[in-house]
Amino acid sequence: MPFKRNILCIGAGYVGGPTMAMIAFKCPQYKVTVVDINPERIAQWNSDDLPIYEPGLDQVVRAARGRNLFFSTEIEKGIQASDVIFVSVNTPTKNFGAGAGMAADLQYWDKTAREIRKYSRSNKIIVEKSTLPVKTAQAMERILTCGDTALSFDVLSNPEFLAEGTAIQDLENPDRVLIGSSQTAQGICARDVLVEIYANWVPREKIITSNIWSSELSKLVANAFLAQRISSVNSISALCEKADADVQEVARAVGMDSRVGAKFLNASVGFGGSCFKKDILNLVYICRYYDLREVADYWEGVVKINEYQKERFILNMLQVMFNTLAGKKICLFGFAFKADTGDTRESPAIQIAKRLMEERADLVITDPKAIDNAKEDLKGAIGNVTYVEDPLDATAGCCAIAVMTEWSLYKNLDYREIYRKMAKPAFIFDGRNILDHEALHNMGFNVFPIGKPPLTHF
Ligand SMILES: NC(=O)c1ccc[n+]([C@@H]2O[C@H](COP(=O)([O-])OP(=O)(O)OC[C@H]3O[C@@H](n4cnc5c(N)ncnc54)[C@H](O)[C@@H]3O)[C@@H](O)[C@H]2O)c1
Repeated sequence: MPFKRNILCIGAGYVGGPTMAMIAFKCPQYKVTVVDINPERIAQWNSDDLPIYEPGLDQVVRAARGRNLFFSTEIEKGIQASDVIFVSVNTPTKNFGAGAGMAADLQYWDKTAREIRKYSRSNKIIVEKSTLPVKTAQAMERILTCGDTALSFDVLSNPEFLAEGTAIQDLENPDRVLIGSSQTAQGICARDVLVEIYANWVPREKIITSNIWSSELSKLVANAFLAQRISSVNSISALCEKADADVQEVARAVGMDSRVGAKFLNASVGFGGSCFKKDILNLVYICRYYDLREVADYWEGVVKINEYQKERFILNMLQVMFNTLAGKKICLFGFAFKADTGDTRESPAIQIAKRLMEERADLVITDPKAIDNAKEDLKGAIGNVTYVEDPLDATAGCCAIAVMTEWSLYKNLDYREIYRKMAKPAFIFDGRNILDHEALHNMGFNVFPIGKPPLTHF
C-alpha cells in the first residue's frame, strides 16, 4: 500500500533522529526518511548501536525502522521523493568573521537550502526544526525561490523543545508543539499539513500556531528563560556560601510560590548542552543588531554567571586543597552535560577538566555513557588523564571526587569503600548537590556542596 505522505528529514542528529523516529512510530501511514552527510552516523542509525543514548529511543527506532522509518545518505533521492522536508542540521555559534563567538553559523543551513532548490522536482513544504535566528525562514524562502523555478516552497518554523535525556517522553507528550507560518492562504494551508501530522498523537489544544517570526523567536526565548533560572539560582548559591544559608532551602521556599514554580532551580556547577549558550548568544547578537544594548547586556549576564560559576568551583577546589593540585589525583564523576545522555557538548566538565589539568592535577574520568565523547573533548589537552568505566576503581588513590553530572548511580555507591581506598584527607565537591552530604561527612570526607556550608574535619 502506498504511503499517505513522504517525509524527509535532513540532519540525523540529537534532534532529527529521535523526532523522526517518533513521527514514524506514531504514524505508520507516512514514510519517514532521515538523511545525513555523515555516513558513519547513518550506519549507526541502521545498526543496533545507535549514535546517541536516549532512554526509550532503542524501542521506538526498532518498532519503526524498515517499516516506515529509513536512514540514508541519499540526499538527492530523498529530496526528490518527499513532499514535506524537515531541516534539522546543526547551527553552532559562528567562530569566524563578523559575529564570531556570538552569531549563529548558518553555513549548514544555507547549503541545505541550496540542495533542496537544486534537487527539487515538485512543490515542497520546508520545516525549520533547527533553532535559528529570527527571519531565517524568510532568507530560506528567498534562496529557494530565486531564479526561474516554477516550483513553490512553503517554509514553516517548528522549533523543537525536547530536552536530551527525556527526549522520547518529551516527543510523545510535549507541553506544546509550535508551528509558525506566513499568514497567507498558502502559508496557512502548509501549516495545516504539519498540524495534521502532529495531530496523530498530540492533543489539538497543545498544537499552537503563530506568525513565523514569533515562532523562531519563541525558541530562543524559551532557552534563554530556562538558562536564566539556572544562572539566577547559581548566583544566589555564591551568596549562600558566604551568608551561611542553604541554597536548596532557599530554592524550595522560592519555588513553592506558584508564580515562580519549582523546576530549574537546582544550583549546580553550571549549565551545559549544545543549545543554551549558543541560543542566548544568538539572542544577544540580534539585540545588539537592533541597537537594544540594555536588553543584550541583560541576557549576556546569564552566560557570564555561568562562566563565573564554573571558575568559582575550580578556585574553591584549589583553595581548600591547600592551594595546590599539582600531582594530585582527582576523579570527575560524570562528563555528560546532564544525566541520561552521552552528550558532552558545552558540558561544564570540559572546562573543569581543562582547568584542573592546567593546575597539573592527574585526572581520572568516569561516566556511564560519555567516555568516548570525553576522550574527543580532551584530545590535545596537555596533562595526565585516564578514563575508567567503574566509579569504584576510578576513585582508588584519589584525593578528591568532583561530581559533574547528576547520574543517579552516583547516589548509591559504596562510599565507605571509596573512602577507604582514597588518599587522605579525602574531599568531595558535589557540583550537582545530589549526594548525602551529612552521611559522607560522618564517614570522614570533607564535603563541599554548592551553595551551602562545607562539612569539614579541619
Ligand atoms: N540537541 C538538542 O537538545 C536540541 C533541542 C532543540 C533544538 N535543537 C536544535 O536542533 C538543531 C540540530 O541540533 P542537533 O543537536 O540535532 O545537532 P547534531 O549536530 O547532533 O546534528 C546535526 C546533523 O546535521 C548533519 N548535517 C549538517 N549539514 C548537513 C547537510 N547539508 N546535509 C545533511 N546533513 C547535514 C550533521 O552531519 C549532523 O549529523 C540545532 O539547530 C539545535 O540548536 C537541539
